[in-house]
Amino acid sequence: MQITQRTAVLNADAVATYRRTGFFLAAGLLPADVVGELSAAAAGILAQDSPRRITERDGVTVRSVYGPHQTDPVVARVCRRPELAGAAMDLLGEDVYIHQSKVNVKAAFVGDQWEWHQDYIYWLKDDGIRTPDLVNVAVFLDEVTEFNGPLTFVPCSHNEGVLAATEKHGVPVGYEDAPQWVSTLTADEKYRVRHDVIARLATAHGLVSPKGPAGSVLFFHPNILHASSPNISPFGRTTLITVYNAVSNPPTNTGNPRPDFLAAHGTTPVRIIY
Ligand code: SIN
Ligand code: MN
Repeated sequence: MQITQRTAVLNADAVATYRRTGFFLAAGLLPADVVGELSAAAAGILAQDSPRRITERDGVTVRSVYGPHQTDPVVARVCRRPELAGAAMDLLGEDVYIHQSKVNVKAAFVGDQWEWHQDYIYWLKDDGIRTPDLVNVAVFLDEVTEFNGPLTFVPCSHNEGVLAATEKHGVPVGYEDAPQWVSTLTADEKYRVRHDVIARLATAHGLVSPKGPAGSVLFFHPNILHASSPNISPFGRTTLITVYNAVSNPPTNTGNPRPDFLAAHGTTPVRIIY
């Protein structure tokens, strides 16, 4: 369903690498002034107390804020830039809408891990999205190093489809008063991939943690197996992640829709701002 006429952002090699490995890192893709503007916006977003804001297990340190493209004009604009939305179209081969966005923080010294998981199982089971034709587009707002809790991937694991996972029921420790949907957002992942499955795939394909300066953009497939370790360093790691979905792949009725700051209820195509 291609209706937007535009110039490709990612070349054929980049698209092929993404399709083969499940990710592609475009180092320094966004201009420094845009990164500066986004970082300032992120600081304001993280400071706002709201149900969109999720803390670490300590109940104090901010871990994520969901749906900033709905509330912040800078994020709303950057999510429509060609380097993000246009590249998502290159990877998905059609027009896209924004299914979810979040600012993720790995705070210096205390930022917690993300357990091994795949993203698509949430979008399938919780949002009724029928095919994995989505892409995560992560903008590094800080330099990402081996020390500040980088994302770690099992390359090529997206080719395995939805992996065997155990579903954790109930609300995570420390979130007893929170609504049920919070279980999809904390360090205790709701759908955990089994250790024997992770071991098999990591033995076959290895592990990789893409690193790069602020302004780098990391594209990753919703079925790639990934995790991230705690941030032991004195350097924070803030990332803006926008999840674009193909407009032909709408959410369907699950009977229990998540709030729209977690999962879009409409599929209005992104219009690119040049
Ligand atoms: C992270 O920011 O380390 C985790 C992001 C994700 O699991 O999608
Ligand atoms: Mn994830």
